[in-house]
Order: sequence, then structure tokens, then C-alpha cells
Amino acid sequence: MARVLVAYGTKNGGTTPIAEKIGETLSGRGHEVDVLEAGKARPGGYDALVVGSAIYAGMWRRPVKRLMGRVLRTAPDTPLWLFHSGPLGDTADEPQPFPKWLASLEEHLDVRDRATFGGVLDEHATGFIARKMVQSGKGGDARDWEAIAAWAGEIADALEG
Ligand SMILES: Cc1cc2nc3c(=O)[nH]c(=O)nc-3n(C[C@H](O)[C@H](O)[C@H](O)COP(=O)(O)O)c2cc1C
Repeated sequence: MARVLVAYGTKNGGTTPIAEKIGETLSGRGHEVDVLEAGKARPGGYDALVVGSAIYAGMWRRPVKRLMGRVLRTAPDTPLWLFHSGPLGDTADEPQPFPKWLASLEEHLDVRDRATFGGVLDEHATGFIARKMVQSGKGGDARDWEAIAAWAGEIADALEG
């Protein structure tokens, strides 16, 4: 049994259930899991870390960026899985580039895998651009729960292997 932190950053709430799905899958495999918003997460004392963010204009949410700084300082050797969520519509299956600042941190971290998951954008999203995107038919829900659970299952396999 491993102690696992699943920490995530969101603006409109769509990434939260993705993190929860990962957490449920891992706890279903017998692991002890904390699922926390990145601003509340402290990465010390875990056997594995899963960190993810919603993508906005190619960028990760600021609390996740700060959390990655804490990972670097306090838990650089803890096995780490990274995901982000965003693409919609025709591009929903396409892996998105991870932010450049992450590449420089990754040399000092134990990154095991990365994943891109489809995102969600609906009329509840805040912001002018978000509303325009929804109005022009660029919204929708592209979250693939099976793909998310499958990826979390691979994490469980790695923890048990
Ligand atoms: C203004 C804006 C910019 C976005 N930029 C990107 C982007 O660069 N790449 C991407 O894959 N998705 C992008 N998206 C889609 C969001 O990442 C997607 O809606 C995501 O699921 C939002 O997560 P959240 O609900 O947890 O905040 C953007 C959405 C908005 C509203």
C-alpha cells in the first residue's frame, strides 16, 4: 500500500473530477490517497505524487506551478506522474505540449509518465473568452473517463510492481 497525493489546479472546476477519478482508481487498488487542490497540497511524506493542471493558453494554473516548486524543494526523489487537461472537440485526443518551465525542473525530479486528457468547457465557465468559445460551438465535454482510469491503473501497476 502506497501513500499517494493527487494534486490539481483548476479554474472552472472541470479538472477536479479528473483528479478524483485518478484518486478513486488508486484507492480502489488499496492505496491511501489524498486528492487536494494544488494550493492546499504539501508534497512531503508521500510514496508517489500525481500532479495535474487545467491548461489555459498553454499554461498551467499558478498554484500548480508553486506546488511544483515545493516538490522540487521537499520531495524531488518521490516518483511523480504529471497530467494536464484541456483539449476539446477535434483536438481532444491530441497530446498537448507541457509548459517549458517544467522541462527545466524535470531534470531534478523522478517523472515516471505524463498524460494529456480532454477537457470541458460549458456555459458555467467564467471569462469573456470562455463564453465566446462556448457560444461559437467550441465548448463541450471531452473528458474520457476510461482513459483517465486506465492511466491511473498504470500508476497503480507501477506502485505495486
Ligand atoms: C481562455 C481559455 C484558454 C484555453 N486554452 C487552452 C489551451 O491552450 N490548451 C488546451 O488544451 N485547452 C485550453 N483551454 C481549454 C481548457 O483547458 C478546458 O476548458 C479545461 O477543461 C478547463 O479546466 P478547468 O475547468 O479545470 O479550469 C482553454 C480554455 C479557455 C476558456
